Amino acid sequence: MPKNNDNPPSPVLVGLMGSGKSSIGRRLAKYLHIPLIDLDDYIVNKAKKSIPEIFTDLGEKAFRDMESAALREVIGQQAVIATGGGAVMREENRALLKSHSPVIWLQASPEFLAKRIDGDTNRPLIAAGETLQKLQHLAEVRYPLYEECADYVLPRGDMKKREALKSILQFLEKT
Ligand code: S3P
Repeated sequence: MPKNNDNPPSPVLVGLMGSGKSSIGRRLAKYLHIPLIDLDDYIVNKAKKSIPEIFTDLGEKAFRDMESAALREVIGQQAVIATGGGAVMREENRALLKSHSPVIWLQASPEFLAKRIDGDTNRPLIAAGETLQKLQHLAEVRYPLYEECADYVLPRGDMKKREALKSILQFLEKT
């Protein structure tokens, strides 16, 4: 995998924060011998500000504008693209994602995610208040949107990264 190494797929990973898009994306990129583009890192490099700084100094709308611009710029490149959890919120982003294949949703429960990211100060949307409740709300709003865009849903459950990677590779093998 891939069968034709000259033309590997360019998977885009979507899912809630903490679902492993960047870390599994890194392993996937290594396996496919293509770069990883982490959309948050891409935005941070361009803005020369951290994600919390962008949210505090410029506001969430400015961040979402940067996110949409970044997605437009990178989609279609030969790379694994790890999106931010909120990239599916805008219609224009979903249209881009739906026109691309494969899009892989790392589906993880709010309970699983809360254990992983509770107290993470680099994620403004969960910086204050109760992490589990916030994630439950985000899941309610976003699960249907991830589903709308995804070609493959990987139900992570308690799956380790190694197993998650294997499952994605099995899917890619079939496409
Ligand atoms: C966000 C998720 C973050 C980052 C920003 C907003 C969201 O990315 O883009 O904090 O709206 O869920 P990760 O999913 O990589 O944490």
